[in-house]
Amino acid sequence: MTIVPKLVVRNLQEYSAPPTNRYSSVRLDFNENTEGFPDVYPKGLPSDWVSAYPEYSDLTKRLAEFHRLPEDYLLLTNGSDEAISLVSSTFIEPGIDTAVISIPCFFMIPQCLKIAGADLRQVKLLEDLNFDLTGIEEAMRDNAKLAMFASPDNPTGSVLPTESILDLCHRFPDTLIVIDEAYAEYAETSLIPYLQDTPNLLVLRTFSKAWGMAGLRLGMCLGNPALLDYLRLVRLPYSVNAAAVWTAIRLLETTESVRSSTRLALARKEALIQALKERDYDVSSAAGNFLLLSAESKASKLTGYLKSRGILVRNRCPGKNTIAGARSRTNPLWGKVRISVGTQRENESLLSALDSFQEQCSRSTCKKAINR
Ligand SMILES: Cc1ncc(COP(=O)(O)O)c(C=O)c1O
Repeated sequence: MTIVPKLVVRNLQEYSAPPTNRYSSVRLDFNENTEGFPDVYPKGLPSDWVSAYPEYSDLTKRLAEFHRLPEDYLLLTNGSDEAISLVSSTFIEPGIDTAVISIPCFFMIPQCLKIAGADLRQVKLLEDLNFDLTGIEEAMRDNAKLAMFASPDNPTGSVLPTESILDLCHRFPDTLIVIDEAYAEYAETSLIPYLQDTPNLLVLRTFSKAWGMAGLRLGMCLGNPALLDYLRLVRLPYSVNAAAVWTAIRLLETTESVRSSTRLALARKEALIQALKERDYDVSSAAGNFLLLSAESKASKLTGYLKSRGILVRNRCPGKNTIAGARSRTNPLWGKVRISVGTQRENESLLSALDSFQEQCSRSTCKKAINR
């Protein structure tokens, strides 16, 4: 067959979506809120909400109030993935515009920008996995149309300081700066309060993490109404479904439970990091609901072992994908396993499985256990 997609699509890597049969596993692989909010799950969804096309005005109004913004500063999206895609395809002139990103970064950022036809300027992270601010600024100098970063980023958990982003926005007023704040609730920092004074800044948020709604797909893009109007021209009219709208409205009626769930997750994260350190693991604390464990050459083995125990985590440099030369140790994610913070019970299962792994390692051919 001679039907092929455009060149850029032929060169894409596929997003490695969650495996099937995850519901019954300990899901520490996709940074979800595994505790969830059982009392607000969309029970009672009225049948009219199922038979009618979804309406967005009520939720938009409530969210705008929650974030202390005028309503036209907010556009609902089908998860923040859709927002990343929408911004890329709305503002990038294919083959002409350049976009600045950091690398490695959240998978969908380069993916959507490539599909949109952007010429990518990829600024490598520093060795300690922090953003290279000088490199980013240099890359933006030559008329970049757009710059997109996740902060905190995934999988590194690195954060771009608020002052640095605002400084870039002011110094590059003709560049659209997009900050994906998927983990903002855990980082307890956000650029939303600055949006009304920063016309070239857009912030993306999700309900998949702290709000526990990954399965329902809800996100939003916030910022300058004139920019959002362009996104409205491009987006599919009903990409957000009524069950997501219903659930988010219920959750907004109980925001204290979201805040307390976030606080508890952060406390469990600290306890987990402590427990891992006591076991001599090298762990970097990311500013999200996850952490990075350095398993070095045992990353695949460890991930496979945990999977055999029903515990899903992610090796962030498994071999053939990620950035060029991923197999080599020059990839800053080499040997790093990303582990989402689970419930108390899930974290205990993880620790006990890690102990068995260590034991197995010291008994078998792996003479040197991880990081000892
Ligand atoms: C940084 C970042 N942005 C966006 C997303 C996607 O979020 P959503 O489920 O809202 O599409 C993720 C999911 O892992 C993420 O880590």
